[in-house]
Amino acid sequence: MPYTLPDTNIFRRRFFSSLAIPLGAEAILIGVLFWNVLALRNAIFWVNHTYQVVSNAENLQRNFNEAESAYLHFLIFHSPTSLTTYQAVTVSLSRSISSLQREIADNPIQVRRLNTVKTLLADWRYATQKNIAAPTRSSVLKAVALHAFRAHQNLDVLLGAFIGEEKRLLTQRLRTYSDNLILMFAIIGLLSLTSITLVFWGFNNLRTLSSNYERSLTLGRSQFDQLQKEKEFRDKVLENSVISIVVIAREGRFSYVNQKAAQLLGYTPEELIGQSFLMAVPPDEAERLQAMFDRTLHEKSSVTDVEVRALRKDGSIRNVVFGWVPLLSENEVIGLVACGMDITEKKRLEQELLAAQKLESLGRLAGGIAHDFNNVLTAIFGYMELASEELPPNHPVQVRLRDTERAAESAATLTQQLLAFARRQIIQPRLIRLDELVQNIQPMLQRLIGENIELRVKVEQVHLVKVDPGQMEQILVNLAVNARDAMPEGGVLTIGVEDVFIDETYAQRHEEVRPGNYVMLTVSDTGVGMDQSIHQHIFEPFFTTKPQGRGTGLGLATCYGIVKQAGGHIWLYSEPGHGTTFKIFLPHAEGAPEELQPHESTLPPVPKGTETILLAEDEPSVREVAASALRAQGYTVLEAGSGDEAIRLAERHPDPIHLLITDAIMPSMSGRDLAEHLRQTRKVEKVLYISGYTENAIVHQGVLEQGIFFLPKPFTPSGLLRKVREVLDSPA
Ligand SMILES: Nc1ncnc2c1ncn2[C@@H]1O[C@H](COP(=O)(O)OP(=O)(O)OP(=O)(O)O)[C@@H](O)[C@H]1O
Ligand SMILES: [Mg+2]
Repeated sequence: MPYTLPDTNIFRRRFFSSLAIPLGAEAILIGVLFWNVLALRNAIFWVNHTYQVVSNAENLQRNFNEAESAYLHFLIFHSPTSLTTYQAVTVSLSRSISSLQREIADNPIQVRRLNTVKTLLADWRYATQKNIAAPTRSSVLKAVALHAFRAHQNLDVLLGAFIGEEKRLLTQRLRTYSDNLILMFAIIGLLSLTSITLVFWGFNNLRTLSSNYERSLTLGRSQFDQLQKEKEFRDKVLENSVISIVVIAREGRFSYVNQKAAQLLGYTPEELIGQSFLMAVPPDEAERLQAMFDRTLHEKSSVTDVEVRALRKDGSIRNVVFGWVPLLSENEVIGLVACGMDITEKKRLEQELLAAQKLESLGRLAGGIAHDFNNVLTAIFGYMELASEELPPNHPVQVRLRDTERAAESAATLTQQLLAFARRQIIQPRLIRLDELVQNIQPMLQRLIGENIELRVKVEQVHLVKVDPGQMEQILVNLAVNARDAMPEGGVLTIGVEDVFIDETYAQRHEEVRPGNYVMLTVSDTGVGMDQSIHQHIFEPFFTTKPQGRGTGLGLATCYGIVKQAGGHIWLYSEPGHGTTFKIFLPHAEGAPEELQPHESTLPPVPKGTETILLAEDEPSVREVAASALRAQGYTVLEAGSGDEAIRLAERHPDPIHLLITDAIMPSMSGRDLAEHLRQTRKVEKVLYISGYTENAIVHQGVLEQGIFFLPKPFTPSGLLRKVREVLDSPA
């Protein structure tokens, strides 16, 4: 922001207005002085004028006296010189009168006096001239002398009065003159005084004002510094904000974009400024946003918590929640300021959590169903095997029985898958290396996917993981079969195994993931891929896009359950037309690796025995089948429908009981409690649990406790007999 100096005009105005009073006084004084000078000039004029009049009048008097002397001299001595003087002076007398008349024309009294003088002079002149022309020695001399004497006296008095009046006027005018002179000096004195005051006042004011100006300069500078600091602070806050902030001008263009907002949209702020704000959303959002914008302009209203999809420069979409408020200037909306946050990750996490919760509840349901199914299936298997044994080997019903057995086996497989999904399969985890497992199963997978799909295996020697090898094989088979189905025209199936480290940031972005070392199994295909609508349901049991009879929709549900039960994570990346990649992360485990055992191909013949067995099972059909099979092989069987009954039977039985076979879950007493009780009372030696379901009573997280024997349901009579022999023959 440019720094502007304080306005110097203000200070100039202040300076001059402060001088107004003394300057005004000066002006008045100068005016008065001017008037005084004029008056003085006037006074001088009148003084001069009066001097002139007085001197002229005195001249007149002197000349008259001279003329009369010459006249008398002539009358007495008849001197021609005197006559000449008399004649010359009388002529000048008339001129003096005329000029005096002009000079005192403004003074009527003096005019009148002068007129009388003039008349008397004329009379005198007449009488004298007459005597001069015809002089008679005695009488004339006497008469003329007397006349002359009288006339002279009158004239003298009159001229004396005239001159006296003029002298009075002169005195008066001299006073006026001196008054004016004094006034002038007074004014000049005052003027000098005010001028000195003015100079001092002005100087003082100038000093005060200039120091004020300087202060305001410093004040201005400090205010400027303050503003500058505030601006820097504001810029820092805006630029480092974790919230995206933009200003949109009234005509719908970005006028400010902070770093976060630019980052969110994948542009630089410069690229966005001046562009329409609608470029930041996909076309199908534009109309809604424009309407909202128009409403804000018209109603001056704000919006909050609006969710919108934002369009990035690279074409990808982010979920954003935003609010905006109008910017007003003189009650007019000049634009708006919008704050937003990218909630894509949050939304994805929410969906992930929702999906996990959904799978969890589906798992409980599936587990419950599987439990009941296993009981039913065990009975079916048992009855079939018994029926088959009771019929001659070549009886035609044997064929039907084998068909029924196959059907029951499919049902048992389904139930196993459900259990796996429900994470309730009994597992026997071992410390293995996944790269070895993949290499072992590779030939089988190649056979499974057929010849027009290329199998590429990229494994490196990885860390140990603790998993059930059978289950891992099941996962690989399921994923491979899915990949095969996704590539009907052929393609490439790639399986990779490597060690990875999941860091804090990565872990935070995924539900239930903890940072640490993992072995990552990658299975990717170049098949049809899938869209979001399939993606979000893919791990749900019975979700399939395959035609009726082709898929059950349990493949991935099983994989999900198995991975979760092993403490791992499963993710997938897929795009329609661009194939699918599944990634399975299994946590590193410590310990000595165990040999992978080859699958048993041929089963040994069903063994016989003579021991006494206590069989506790609440499901009558399962109990009946198991008891029949055991008795048929020579064992003595005590049958109990509950834990209590088993205890009573055991107490009444005098001979040793070699084995307790008990259902893990029974209504009033769990298999575990029953076994504990009978072991403590030394009634039984060994225990074999049977269950279609895993409960914490005998297993933890589906893992069998050491030294505990377990036979999962459904089982066939021969399976039961082999397991019984294994337990009885095991060291105590
Ligand atoms: N690699 C893949 N490529 C494309 N779509 C897949 C892929 N894997 C799974 N899917 C989709 O996910 C759905 C569910 O798969 P899942 O394995 O759970 O069941 P399924 O294969 O349909 O049946 P099942 O595996 O029980 O025989 C499939 O029907 C398919 O639509
Ligand atoms: Mg499948």
